[in-house]
Amino acid sequence: MMITTKIFLLLLVLAPLRMAAAGKNCPGVPWLGAVAACGKASGTKLIYNLCIRTMRDYEVDMSPSHKEAVTAYVIIALEAATNSYQETEVAASNQIDNTSLSHQVRDAFQACVDDDYLPAEATLDHIDDVLRSGCNFAGLADAYMSGMMSLERCRDRLLSLRYSASVYSMILVDRQRVSLALSLTKLLGI
Ligand SMILES: *[C@@H]1O[C@H](CO)[C@@H](O)[C@H](O)[C@H]1NC(C)=O
Repeated sequence: MMITTKIFLLLLVLAPLRMAAAGKNCPGVPWLGAVAACGKASGTKLIYNLCIRTMRDYEVDMSPSHKEAVTAYVIIALEAATNSYQETEVAASNQIDNTSLSHQVRDAFQACVDDDYLPAEATLDHIDDVLRSGCNFAGLADAYMSGMMSLERCRDRLLSLRYSASVYSMILVDRQRVSLALSLTKLLGI
């Protein structure tokens, strides 16, 4: 079993605990049911379905009577995005030594890992720290933008070399996951 999968399973077990920890009372943070939060946050059916699926994966109580501070849902969506980024980073790392690829494509993967994914993961960690450490959410929108632009840089490196195999679609999933986390974060009034 890959180490990221193990971490993911561990997070699943810890999710209810972490949600309780994140259920802070910050002024202006709405308390909502998970389905309502997903509905308010999602502009498209695709993101809505991803939101519902993510909350179910983390064993969130989906009943309308169960309400949480929206921060708790944001932290879950962010964790799911971080896991997804890490899986892509591992997959990209594995292609650096793939001798069936041209050296340009392998160089692109190296750059994707070093210049795009590692900084993007640090950005997501920073967002997580901010969400957990108080009620000042200033600067989060910019942080999300930076975390998204990193992905787009990697995507464009591969696109310009006409690489469209599996890692490419993983990047697109990462893009959706971080969009979901951003959409939920906007409910905090950022
Ligand atoms: C190496 O790259 C080729 C072309 O994208 C791909 O079909 C193959 O699965 C890759 N090998 C590994 C071990 O990932």
